[in-house]
Amino acid sequence: MSKPFDISLESLVKPALPVDAGATQAPAQPTDGGKSFYIETFGCQMNAHDSEKVAGVLLARGYRPASSAAQADLMFYNTCSIREKAAQKVFSRLGEWRGEHTKIIGVLGCVAQQEGEEIFERAPWVRLVCGSASYRRLPELIDELESGGRRVTGLDLDTDETFETEITRRDNPIRAYVTIIEGCDYACSYCVVPHTRGPERSRPSDAVLNEARRLADAGYTEIQLLGQTVNSYHDPSPRGLSFVDLLRAVAAVDGIRRVRFTTSHPNDFTREIVEAIDDTPELCEHVHLPVQSGSNRVLRAMRRTYTREEYLEKISWIRAARRPINVTSDIIVGFPGETDDEFQETIGLLDAIGYDGVFSFIYSPRPNTTASSMSGAIPEPEKLRRLAYLQEHQRQIQMARNAALVGSTQEVLVDSRHAARGQWSGRTSSNRVVNFVSQRQNLLGEYARVRIERSGPNSLVGEHAVDTTGGRHGT
Ligand code: 5AD
Ligand code: SF4
Repeated sequence: MSKPFDISLESLVKPALPVDAGATQAPAQPTDGGKSFYIETFGCQMNAHDSEKVAGVLLARGYRPASSAAQADLMFYNTCSIREKAAQKVFSRLGEWRGEHTKIIGVLGCVAQQEGEEIFERAPWVRLVCGSASYRRLPELIDELESGGRRVTGLDLDTDETFETEITRRDNPIRAYVTIIEGCDYACSYCVVPHTRGPERSRPSDAVLNEARRLADAGYTEIQLLGQTVNSYHDPSPRGLSFVDLLRAVAAVDGIRRVRFTTSHPNDFTREIVEAIDDTPELCEHVHLPVQSGSNRVLRAMRRTYTREEYLEKISWIRAARRPINVTSDIIVGFPGETDDEFQETIGLLDAIGYDGVFSFIYSPRPNTTASSMSGAIPEPEKLRRLAYLQEHQRQIQMARNAALVGSTQEVLVDSRHAARGQWSGRTSSNRVVNFVSQRQNLLGEYARVRIERSGPNSLVGEHAVDTTGGRHGT
């Protein structure tokens, strides 16, 4: 058994296990001389992981993490523009630094790519604007600023490169993110991502597997493979692994007990993925497969490239598996022209599938997307009514699905402690949250068997059943 949670590799920086893990902010550490940085991250897991890599680039250049934005010499916002509200938030944050001269303020991510040099017009105190497709140029851009450059941009979108770093600062001590594919070649009519993250490009399988081995050596047992369309992966190296080959290879890395992957596109979702989950215990019992709508007319207008029937067929493969695989989804309500009947088709789909979780959003028109010029905008109050109706409906479905687990015993990877409630918290292989009590002093990072006693719509509550199964290898 190798030593868990050992920070021994220069290519990987893993935080100590915190109590109450899960913060998305950069962990506070005192500065000790030299210049310091602070990164605030908005949006998806891809952004959270990009920030970990950007932090790695800065650490490699001798910057230290600052304990607050106010104390930092370099302040980066890693931004999200998937919906309008997220993009607006960035400008209100930037407004707080009006007239700032002493620190370097930079905007990264999707808003940077989308707004480009406009950001300098709206917030002249910003000195760096860089989209994710140009992160490889960050060291050079920072050099330019340090040697007196006033403003720098990295806005080239036409790239076949992925962002590789010597050091990645890991903000989550339990689950390690590994990018396998960047960008997106789909063209969903509502979505900014192809405009902000550029074309799809996969990482060579050797780079992915080497990273997985280093993570296992450092004590990680759970890896989450990331990509906007993770299952469109094609190994660009001569080995030519398929997505399923890669899943099996990561699962076979010694020390790795759980492999997750997100987000899957229904179009590229194959039976082989279900077969791999079925015969590989390390592959988690969970698939996030966003449907977006239950109406064929809306799916066509969204350019989702599949029908309701094709999607349901893929769900039937998952339901036929020997392992109980959880399915979760994303749904947009109030897409232009969506009728109440079409909305009800989405509600009917929720009933037909019985999702274990749904992220639901009201449609938000985005710049440069074809949907933003479609007629038939749904009034805001009606969008909100549909959202509330859908969320309540889905809540009932989750209550019933979770209630069925009362009395069962689940294996939970413990990721945090709620001191006030005297509870530990973690996730099952199926990604359900379980809160539980235990006599043990410290369970962080361990796999605990928990008897489920109560359930709610979003979590289960139980009691530690027997001794834990250890951080890495126990049974
Ligand atoms: N409006 C609302 N939701 C959106 N999403 C993507 N673009 C938009 C938009 N313009 C949602 C989709 C996607 C999730 C990450 O965000 O459901 O799967
Ligand atoms: Fe956006 Fe569609 Fe690509 Fe997902 S598949 S990132 S929704 S364009």
